[in-house]
Amino acid sequence: MSETAVRAGLEGVVAAATRLSSVDGQAGELIIAGFPVEDFADRATFEETLYLLWHDALPNADQLAQFRRALAPHRHLAPITLNIISAAAERKADVMDMLRMATSTLTSDNHEQAALALVAQMPSMVAAYWRMLQGQAAVAPRPDLGHTGNYLWMLSGTEPSPEQVRALETYLNTVVDHGLNASTFTARVIISTQSDLVSAVVGAIGALKGPLHGGAPGPALDMVFEIGAAERAEAVLRAKLERGERLMGFGHRVYKVRDPRAEVLARAAKRLFDHAGDRSLYELVMQVERTAVALLAEYKPGRNLQTNVEFYTALLLHGLGLPNELFTPTFTVSRVGGWIAHCFEQQALGRIIRPQSVYTGIRDRAWVPLAER
Ligand code: COA
Repeated sequence: MSETAVRAGLEGVVAAATRLSSVDGQAGELIIAGFPVEDFADRATFEETLYLLWHDALPNADQLAQFRRALAPHRHLAPITLNIISAAAERKADVMDMLRMATSTLTSDNHEQAALALVAQMPSMVAAYWRMLQGQAAVAPRPDLGHTGNYLWMLSGTEPSPEQVRALETYLNTVVDHGLNASTFTARVIISTQSDLVSAVVGAIGALKGPLHGGAPGPALDMVFEIGAAERAEAVLRAKLERGERLMGFGHRVYKVRDPRAEVLARAAKRLFDHAGDRSLYELVMQVERTAVALLAEYKPGRNLQTNVEFYTALLLHGLGLPNELFTPTFTVSRVGGWIAHCFEQQALGRIIRPQSVYTGIRDRAWVPLAER
């Protein structure tokens, strides 16, 4: 065997230079295209964020209007895409599986058009599919609503309030990019072969749907509902830790302090629940968080297990009326913008990603004819 060291999982390997985002897990800092996440996520529209990532500058009013006009016609799904979506509905396929299938019906000979179509169609696909599963007709996108408003509109068929749109914009902005995570790396590998954007995004969806990446917001919320009342938090969580279970929504491979995205989403959730006039679930979640962090310090001292993004994602998306099944697809609705930005960056670099492997197999096997095996 060669003496080359293998870094399983490529941990600690720097495989790209990017201007898109910076993750500092020790400091608990996330910078997206120059902005600390907490400074911009609850101000920008998702269209502004996309423009910022793709063009490395905030758009002025004309540029933003033009960008919104360019996205709008792509919201309509082609017959081939709708056919796949209804075939997936007949099988009651997982929403992420549907997204992988439906996304692959897009074609792209022009990168710019493909980028717009990929971003614009993701919410349309999720919404059309979800309604189909409930036996409801798809809702056509509205030209007067933006990207985020249209997603909520196409899902529910009712016009979302400005507060709901703001809360979802904040979520989409918060999770749009996060360094060289597994799905982003996948997209970069695919585009680096001079393949097309659709292939890169289909591959990235495949990487994101895995439970180690697409995350656990559903189980985090289930845990809160299982607790049900603040006074039960300690007993339920302690029993889980005693049984050796993991508390969903806590701990992170990179962040060893509170995930800065949790803070942004907690603030957004508070505003949303305040506006709705019922803070009881928000209060319960806060209590569960305090108790969980304290118990994790007691049971896993020195591990620095803190709240991660999934915990407040669950609260915020639930507050917007989204069911658990749509949590990871809604993550995809956002992250597709980051994947595409990384693809543009990788294309500009023009170098195929081609690491090496160390051979550990047999070197001197003798061939045995079939009849003699
Ligand atoms: N609850 C209880 N214990 C936890 C824990 C959690 N949420 N997360 C980690 N631990 C424990 C591990 O059991 C391990 O304990 P040990 O050393 O006694 O065996 C220790 O803390 C270190 O864990 P490790 O597996 O090295 O952490 P990781 O960096 O590989 O894992 C996660 C990171 C996110 C996979 C992990 O924290 C986890 O499973 N969290 C819960 C699921 C979740 O919220 N996922 C969404 C991630 S965004």
